[in-house]
Amino acid sequence: MTLAARTSVSAPAPAGDLWRALARRLTRNGIETPMLDAEVLLRHVTGWSRETLLRTPEVELDALQQQQLAELGEKRCRGVPVARLIGRKEFWSLEFLLSDETLVPRPESETLIEAALKGGGKDDSLRLLDLGTGCGCLLLSLLHEYRHSSGVGIDISAGAVATARCNAERLSLEDRARFQTGNWNTRTEDIANERFDILVSNPPYIRSGDIGGLQKEVREHDPRIALDGGGDGMDSLRAIIAIAPKLLRPNGRVLIEIGAGQSGEILSLMENQPFKEIRKHKDLAGIDRVIEGIVSKNLILPTRTTTISHYGSTGSI
Ligand SMILES: C[S@@+](CC[C@H](N)C(=O)[O-])C[C@H]1O[C@@H](n2cnc3c(N)ncnc32)[C@H](O)[C@@H]1O
Repeated sequence: MTLAARTSVSAPAPAGDLWRALARRLTRNGIETPMLDAEVLLRHVTGWSRETLLRTPEVELDALQQQQLAELGEKRCRGVPVARLIGRKEFWSLEFLLSDETLVPRPESETLIEAALKGGGKDDSLRLLDLGTGCGCLLLSLLHEYRHSSGVGIDISAGAVATARCNAERLSLEDRARFQTGNWNTRTEDIANERFDILVSNPPYIRSGDIGGLQKEVREHDPRIALDGGGDGMDSLRAIIAIAPKLLRPNGRVLIEIGAGQSGEILSLMENQPFKEIRKHKDLAGIDRVIEGIVSKNLILPTRTTTISHYGSTGSI
């Protein structure tokens, strides 16, 4: 029986049948991960765990649940991302609520968390700063790991700041995480009047002219201000690299997410600022995804630049 036929009647229907029917419909509409998407939507409607769904697919959904599932399926077929439909996204094995003002966290951004943790200090009491915090996923994931640390998340969007605060409470991190609006294009003192041990950022880095060619799910559903890095995609990266030394203590670390193909220019920018031990970290697709550097008051040029692969191999450039 088709999903449409299922939803036109009020008779209860088994979850397993609805799952398969929705997956077939998503496939016909060109959705790349139909079984997974259908599963997530089904679990959202029922509130079931994955185990419950797999163990008891014969359990039936009532008419209202079927109606909700059909509506979500319809929107998914029209290209609304699953994370937007259910209003949350998993990142670093933690759940983050989303709002219209927040980017959906990307798996490749976990490269930044891995890179930060490789630098150690998990038992230290550190001060962290996250510029462009969005839903707060970078700062809150790091504070989840750095149990004795605290930090500040800044975003230009008041809606994003409100969402990040909400996520801090849900993760019981509100005592160690503060979120406020701010703009990295203003004076450093307006961003923060203290110096931090670690600065992280995943700024907008897409070229303005490339945004129209992005996947519909990104182009139409992520906030433009979270994507648009200006004409060459580097406006925000330049601004953050310029202010980072003023926001960090000597020997403080900066870790910035970058787009594919941007590492060469970013390395040059970093090398012209007081950073040492500049490194690139690759994501799981082998793309240079994160640039890291350590602030040195006196050192103008880096001593060495290293590439770190998250598959474990290390090389020098
Ligand atoms: C690519 S999103 C990253 C969100 C989140 N940190 C993540 O990794 O999923 C960039 C964020 O920077 C914020 N942003 C853009 N321009 C800004 C500016 N000038 N000052 C502060 N935040 C800005 C956007 O609102 C957005 O939340």
